[in-house]
Amino acid sequence: MSTRPTPSPAHRPASAPPASGSSRDRQVGARPAAESTPAEYRPAAVIVLAAGEGTRMRSRTPKMLHGIGGRTLLGHVVRAVRGLQPERLAVVVGAGREQVTAHLREIDEDAVPVVQEEQRGTGHATRTALEALPELSGTVVVTTGDTPLLTTATLRRLVAEHVEGKAAATVLTADVPDPTGYGRIVRGDQDEVLAIVEHRDATPEQRAITEINSGIIAFDAAALADALVRLKPDNSQGEEYLTDVLGILRQDGRHVLAVRTDDHTEILGVNNRLQLAELGRLLNQRILTAWMLEGVTVVDPATTWVDDTVRLEPDVVLRPNTMLHGATTVEAGAEIGPDTTLTDCRVGADARVVRCHGEGADIGPEASVGPYAYLRPGTRVGAGGKIGTFVETKKADIGPGAKVPHLSYVGDATIGEGSNIGAGTIFANYDGVHKHRTEVGAHAFVGSDSVLVAPCRIADGAYVAAGSTVVKAVQPGELAVARGRQRNIPGWVERKRAGTRTAEAAARALEAMADETEQGGTSASERRADGTSATERRADGTSATERRADGTSATEH
Ligand code: UD1
Ligand code: CA
Repeated sequence: MSTRPTPSPAHRPASAPPASGSSRDRQVGARPAAESTPAEYRPAAVIVLAAGEGTRMRSRTPKMLHGIGGRTLLGHVVRAVRGLQPERLAVVVGAGREQVTAHLREIDEDAVPVVQEEQRGTGHATRTALEALPELSGTVVVTTGDTPLLTTATLRRLVAEHVEGKAAATVLTADVPDPTGYGRIVRGDQDEVLAIVEHRDATPEQRAITEINSGIIAFDAAALADALVRLKPDNSQGEEYLTDVLGILRQDGRHVLAVRTDDHTEILGVNNRLQLAELGRLLNQRILTAWMLEGVTVVDPATTWVDDTVRLEPDVVLRPNTMLHGATTVEAGAEIGPDTTLTDCRVGADARVVRCHGEGADIGPEASVGPYAYLRPGTRVGAGGKIGTFVETKKADIGPGAKVPHLSYVGDATIGEGSNIGAGTIFANYDGVHKHRTEVGAHAFVGSDSVLVAPCRIADGAYVAAGSTVVKAVQPGELAVARGRQRNIPGWVERKRAGTRTAEAAARALEAMADETEQGGTSASERRADGTSATERRADGTSATERRADGTSATEH
């Protein structure tokens, strides 16, 4: 196992790769203990502004609940600010507040939702939050809810410089290639920050400024409270701008600072779906980069998507078109893809998963899945087990070394160690009202094209003949044959299908057999009587029919 790399603030994803550990029983890819924020840099409060409507998303879903990389926009921001270990975390909600509040409760039950009834601007939103919190002293960090690439490391740097610089406000800024729409940082002769001017309110000269306001600002709590009540909505939008607080503090002769990030992608905001896709791609690149440096092979980063919440181990190989979502973990040496989507799955060490769609499945070490397999929730494949081609599984516990190689449905079932389920076997688990379970013991053998009607039990070491419909228990060592007996009717084709090509072929074949008989072979009638030919007979005299009756014709590979 590799050791944990030194964090590099700008490029390290929020999804820190797993900590080192040698013991087998440790959690795969367990998140390392979060680095802690030094006590003097822990803010009294963080306020996340998330009340905006997000009109430009043109969506029924509140903007904050749109997702990239396995978390909502709000989820990314909450995660980053939590890393600062603030004493209080308030999230200002407004548009879609029920949904946003419910989601917030799921992701961070200690965060306090604060309702801003009307969206009267970022300054008004901040004031609403401050009013809902007890009186604060120390640092208050205000962030927007729509900057999902922001990292804790950058936030820490902002607060550290703010505290060390004894500033009333410190704004996080960046130079961006296209500053359209953002507030511009207006600096004075000494490079000091004078004010933030919103794009809409900016002069042409100010619009030429490429240094922008990230919307992430650290304040001295008292100075912020004092300035907020003096905000006026005298701007193009008629809103109370939080950004005006900086100008007010400057005029008061207070110290205002800026911290410029090198990685401007960290502060990009999402206002429409183009930006949602763009930031999703950037986040994915960041996640893949970190995993590649941790020893994961990503054959084609352009078509591989890994959520922030996924955990991987060294020597995992991800082939093109692989998508790993949710709480998925993949252990060392496992190979996934191509064309595989796994959500909330565990893949054991050295397993192979090819062209598979999996949800909530647990794939054991050295197991083999696919190509073309659909693993639904509750699927467990034991060590070295196999789920093959065109197989669907659900709530299926497939024992170590057991195989379901082709064309099967396995639902609500347990299959014991080393058992083999023949091609085309269906576990009929649903009677139209209830679902029932089927249990197949260890080293059992189910012939091809069987239907196991649940509830049903096939004991250890039992056999089921191919083509059987099994409705009652099969005991250890028994062979269950549950199908119509074969009956061959000589001359049927000649009588019922006269004049067809089939009839002609039959006539030719019969003639050839008759000729053979004249030359001293077995008689055609003898062969027709049991449906087999002499050449099919074994030395022990059993016919092919007999052999087929024992069900061993099931495919094994
Ligand atoms: C804001 C900043 C701008 C900065 C940009 C960075 C202001 C006036 N402008 O502009 O300088 O460059 O962010 O992305 O602050 N919100 C509320 N209540 C409101 C209004 C907004 O909670 O009444 C929230 C929104 O949900 C959003 C955030 O505040 O999360 C920013 O609002 P938005 O309308 O996106 O501001 P921008 O125009 O992007
Ligand atoms: Ca915005």
